[in-house]
Amino acid sequence: MATEHIVVVGAGQMGAGIAQVALQAGLRVSLVDVNKDGLAKGADRIKAGLKKLVEKGKLDAAKQQAAEANLATFTSAREAKDVDVAIEAVTENEDLKRRIFLELDEVVRPGGILATNTSSIPITRIAAATKRPESVIGMHFMNPVPVMQLVELIRGAATSDETYNTIRSMAERMGKTTVVSKDYPGFIVNRILIPMLNEACFALMEGLGTAEDIDTAMKLGTNQPMGPLQLADFIGLDTVLYIAEVLHKGLGDSKYRPCPLLRQYVDAGWYGKKSGRGFYKY
Ligand code: CAA
Repeated sequence: MATEHIVVVGAGQMGAGIAQVALQAGLRVSLVDVNKDGLAKGADRIKAGLKKLVEKGKLDAAKQQAAEANLATFTSAREAKDVDVAIEAVTENEDLKRRIFLELDEVVRPGGILATNTSSIPITRIAAATKRPESVIGMHFMNPVPVMQLVELIRGAATSDETYNTIRSMAERMGKTTVVSKDYPGFIVNRILIPMLNEACFALMEGLGTAEDIDTAMKLGTNQPMGPLQLADFIGLDTVLYIAEVLHKGLGDSKYRPCPLLRQYVDAGWYGKKSGRGFYKY
């Protein structure tokens, strides 16, 4: 199945990163965001990312030019024509995603694929809102998208083999390695990662160590690129809390209960790196 023209909905950090790796793979990308400023920022971020790769000698100038020429920006997905695949990468709000999927169902050509970068909402439920649940799939990229190797693919209850195989090939063309997960809360990565980050919050709350010692212990003791508290700040404490709540509610086990300190930081507006303060100050 052709995957030459993709629409990426949401021009934030994730959407821009997805668009960038798709452009590097030679795909035509229409980047969509209702927020004009956000759309311009996303396009600038992509161009800066491509330029940096040229400066590092990882992309040649002709490919950079071709990639920039392959990028179009729109404030509505309806302006994009002949779309093979849509990848939705907006904030984790189920109503919003559902509305976007209803629109994408009309925009993407018949037989085309609707993918979502959700980290926590059931693919099966999003798919059920469309007229083509067999063509809906989870395509979960990791942050920062241009650097991280993995794309988690999530098959909803109705996802067809053709949809899965097409999206797996497209992810591989973008230079990514894929794994496939069943459609259960948190999928694979967040099912394992978020409890670890949450446990680091409990360790801090109980005074087991300072934030620096907890992070250094895990960084140097288990060879992780970032300590868990620094990684939580990097992901966003509001996002970590949201996913922890999804695991707790969806799996119904008290072992997933969000740490009260994490909740308190979010209540205080300390969302991590993006707000200037989390477990650390930025
Ligand atoms: N965009 C593009 N490139 C970036 C980047 C970004 N935002 N951040 C770093 N890089 C590049 C740098 O340019 C550098 O490239 P070169 O090697 O070509 O020079 C390379 O990445 C390494 O960067 P740095 O030397 O600046 O710093 P680092 O070695 O500490 O790496 C990091 C930074 C890649 C972010 C690393 O700390 C890391 O891997 N951290 C963990 C990230 C992680 O676990 N992400 C997953 C989060 S979970 C998730 O996303 C799922 C979810 O649903 C919550």
